[in-house]
Amino acid sequence: MVDTTKTPSRLVPIDTVIAIDGPAGSGKSTTARALAKHLDLIYVDTGAMYRALTWAAGEARVAFDDADSLAELLASAELRLAPRNGETRVTWNGRDISTEIRTPAVETNVSVVAAHAEVRHRMVDRQRALGRDVGVVMEGRDIGSVVFPLASAKIYLDATLEARAERRLRQHRKRGVTISREDVMSEVAERDRRDSSREESPLTISPDAILIDNSALSLQEQLEETTEAVLRVLDEKQPCPVRSDRHPRDIPFRYRVAYTIMGAMGRFMGVKVYGRENANRPEGMIVAPNHISIWDPPILGSAMHNIAPIRSIAKAELFRYWPLRWMYRFLDAIPIKRSIYDAKAFDLATACLDEGSDILFFPEGTRQVFGSPGPVRNGIGMLMQRTGAPVVPVMIRGTMAPMPA
Ligand code: DC
Repeated sequence: MVDTTKTPSRLVPIDTVIAIDGPAGSGKSTTARALAKHLDLIYVDTGAMYRALTWAAGEARVAFDDADSLAELLASAELRLAPRNGETRVTWNGRDISTEIRTPAVETNVSVVAAHAEVRHRMVDRQRALGRDVGVVMEGRDIGSVVFPLASAKIYLDATLEARAERRLRQHRKRGVTISREDVMSEVAERDRRDSSREESPLTISPDAILIDNSALSLQEQLEETTEAVLRVLDEKQPCPVRSDRHPRDIPFRYRVAYTIMGAMGRFMGVKVYGRENANRPEGMIVAPNHISIWDPPILGSAMHNIAPIRSIAKAELFRYWPLRWMYRFLDAIPIKRSIYDAKAFDLATACLDEGSDILFFPEGTRQVFGSPGPVRNGIGMLMQRTGAPVVPVMIRGTMAPMPA
């Protein structure tokens, strides 16, 4: 049985992103908060961000249907979320508005404010930034579908309208707000309608989300079911698609073909690879070269191939161009989307390293056109923390010949 009261009871990768979506009153906040505590991740309540903007619009007398002014109001604001006694403390330009954002006035108008594309784009940028550097459990309406489409695990919580309205009523009463059951029911129904029918990122169930209907579950049962579902997804190991035999004679035939072509090209260009002799260990290694050209991954692969097969992590955009697309697919390169957190790419790289394959990972993340070293991005640190694999620095020179970029 999962004990969600212990802190933390399970060590998950530091970059884990868990998306929890669902309609108003579906128990997202309680579940997400408990899960974050259980897994030692940061809890982020994105509804509080839309509520904060709605409150600020009311204060600044900005109309709730004036999308441009709302977006401007948000752009200039310092909006912060911080944990406090198990709740989220929300500040707007330094003022604590944690209580104000839960009033019926905000509740009535927040779905109008949250429907504007201009507002949503800015909010999504802020939410992605929150989940880029640390592991999070983020709850909202579009987390799995828009904010983190490649989240490590996605949960969609649901419950009947009656059950959800009853919970909201209890919350209001606890805060001393007087409101009738009928009013809460029609307010929740109206918010459902607005959140699901808006044009910009409406509330939808991602095809890869796990659906949990908690209408008939106790709080403890709901927490257990969600935690178990999340851990099941996190534990599902993606198999590394290539056998990880480390003997050169076991390298797949198609790799030999590609490496022979790229090796000839490398020799023609006068490419030099320094430090490859250090990449000769029995376990999976992260080979970390400098990056100067789009031809680095296949040429480095070719330079290393008499040591072991190696898989590159390459930006997803490169898979669009022929002949690189063909080459990368042929060599089982792992595409990584860099603008969003790409849990799938990290999962695949982790599986391959765990199985003993080497991974070619460019610490600078992008080409350094002038040849001097660029800043190291946090991706390599995440991979090291996830796998404990040794890192072997390698230097490549000479791939800068004019080629399509
Ligand atoms: O979860 P909540 O009740 O605090 O959300 C408040 C409103 O914000 C709700 O009407 C839907 C909207 N919202 C959204 O559109 N997208 C999110 N990611 C979170 C909340």
